[in-house]
Amino acid sequence: MIVSAGRLWLLTTASSGYVVRLDADDTPRCAHWGPPLTLDQARDLPPGAEELPVEGGERFGVPALQLRYADGVRGAEWRFLGEELDGERLVLRLADRHYPLEIGLHYRLRGEVLERHTTLVNHGDTPITLLRCDSAAWSPPGREAWRLTHVSGEWGGEFRLRRTPLPVAETVLTSRRGHSGHEVNPWLMLDAGEATEAHGEVWSTALAWSGSWRMTVRREHGGGLTWSGGHGHDGLTWRLEPGGRAETPVFAGVYSPDGFGGASHRWHDYLRDDRLRPVVYNSWEATGFAISPGQQLALAERAAALGAEVFVVDDGWFAGRSSDRAGLGDWHADPGRFPDGLEPLADAVRALGMGFGLWVEPESVNPDSELARTRPEWILGQPHRRATQVRNQLLLDFSRDEVAEWALGRLDHLVGRYGVAFLKWDMNRPVTEAGDDVWIPYIRNVYAVLDRLRAAHPGLLVEGCASGGGRADPGMLARTDQIWTSDNTDAAQRLAIQHGYGHLYPAATMGAWVTDSPNAQTARITPLAFRFHVAMAGALGLGGDLLRWSEQELAEAAGLVARYKEIRPVVHRGRLDRLGEHAVQYSHEDRVVVLICRPSTLLPATAPVRPRGLDPGAAYRDEDTGAVHHGAVLLSHGLPQPLPFDATSTLTRLRRLR
Ligand code: DGJ
Repeated sequence: MIVSAGRLWLLTTASSGYVVRLDADDTPRCAHWGPPLTLDQARDLPPGAEELPVEGGERFGVPALQLRYADGVRGAEWRFLGEELDGERLVLRLADRHYPLEIGLHYRLRGEVLERHTTLVNHGDTPITLLRCDSAAWSPPGREAWRLTHVSGEWGGEFRLRRTPLPVAETVLTSRRGHSGHEVNPWLMLDAGEATEAHGEVWSTALAWSGSWRMTVRREHGGGLTWSGGHGHDGLTWRLEPGGRAETPVFAGVYSPDGFGGASHRWHDYLRDDRLRPVVYNSWEATGFAISPGQQLALAERAAALGAEVFVVDDGWFAGRSSDRAGLGDWHADPGRFPDGLEPLADAVRALGMGFGLWVEPESVNPDSELARTRPEWILGQPHRRATQVRNQLLLDFSRDEVAEWALGRLDHLVGRYGVAFLKWDMNRPVTEAGDDVWIPYIRNVYAVLDRLRAAHPGLLVEGCASGGGRADPGMLARTDQIWTSDNTDAAQRLAIQHGYGHLYPAATMGAWVTDSPNAQTARITPLAFRFHVAMAGALGLGGDLLRWSEQELAEAAGLVARYKEIRPVVHRGRLDRLGEHAVQYSHEDRVVVLICRPSTLLPATAPVRPRGLDPGAAYRDEDTGAVHHGAVLLSHGLPQPLPFDATSTLTRLRRLR
């Protein structure tokens, strides 16, 4: 609910309150972000930190908006123009007191999440240079100490959770890579050093942007904390042309009075829909670039027998693509490997009862491709600068509309011609040699192609991927159905990756394959059930060389896929509670699923694992053993979990009895 009360606005969700006030100078300030307040309580608050700090005057913090007018003057002095209030949406309109710049601060309540973004309009006849244009700045009430929770990582080791005391300084989280990044992810959580998984206050924000970004957190000497974030990395500037309008991505925030888990629940509710994701088989780990129709069909037959619902032909199907040195850009079936085209394979996959899926990397081009030879002007680069190749490939300049149109045309053709049900959209290199005017329009055109493709093919599922989890963010999740979380499919290592991923993103969006053991990521052999139990915590897929699996393994796998399908509604639609780094609980309606893994005996035994949120007065039946447990006993004593060895795991299914 949003209430407007003169120069004060009160935005209230079930468990949070946010108060914006105009100070005597017309500058919007955040008077409160925390538990809900009444209007009377809100009126007593002094105006707090600025909602979008600019440069100028006695301001020495992090500027969220830095601009320079044509005459060289910087900063802004605001004059309030008015409000627009429409249900759960509020816009505060302001103008510079002298220059023809108008700004809109946008607020929207969606459940427990407050979305914010900024718009700028240049009403003048000279350009305005934007040196920094963040979406929003945030400021919780002051506390004695602050702690920062975020993820860091690398290729094959994304989303590693970090929780560190925040120094009295400015701390920057950023990606300069043109995608949201393996090294970091565009969200953070802050607490006063006291919050736990289920208790205490946590303030969290996430940026819906899939390109470069920056968040700067400033902890002041006196306990104050503010942070500002938005698209673009430092040093990048934009021009706001006469008559031009700029709109930043959404930078959303949640306040959780019940710990990190509570913050995750709110993010999951916001980012989740009700659809169950299919069991996908993907051929990449099994066949790499060396693919043929016969071998793909043989894999498809086995995948179907195991219960896969979609069969995805990964890299290697298109013209000239026998290694990563050639082919990107030439999006038609390789005539050597697929002399009859892809149709026979696609039809055979459908005849087996599965959807047909295809891998693409539309933003990239190999120098050794027809596209690079015929359209060299489409390749991203700068005059007098070397063109950096990563994985032997360059990027197309997706900021150019004709490039985006071409990509949309190719994808639309592929999806239509082969009846593609599932598209894996990969992006395997960072952006380099890009001018100021490329970074933001590039991502907007990626979004536009995805949006238009999905609008044209409403049933199409899209998996977002950038060498694993390099481009996972709320912006990408708004236009894809799931994310390929990491190229690291070793189940034991994957536990930590999934633990970090799940802090923001819902389980249904977390692509997780069961692959071979050992595989390229580990020499260690892990039991099939352990691999399945790890992958069942998300959108389970299969990625191994099924042609090498024994009859016994295939039979066991088929049973585990069936078991997964049975718990899938609970995992994909339920509330996720982290019961430790290696134990997760999903609760949906009258059902509870708990997955507990022990990756190594070097780690302490996980028992007792105590479920959360059960009704202490109710009884719960273990659906496998038939044993009946009292909710109060489970909450207090936990589940008995004998996990004596490396790579052991359990799946417990409880149903509440009436
Ligand atoms: C990187 C992805 O993360 C992998 O899953 C696979 O699709 C390869 N690219 C293919 O080149």
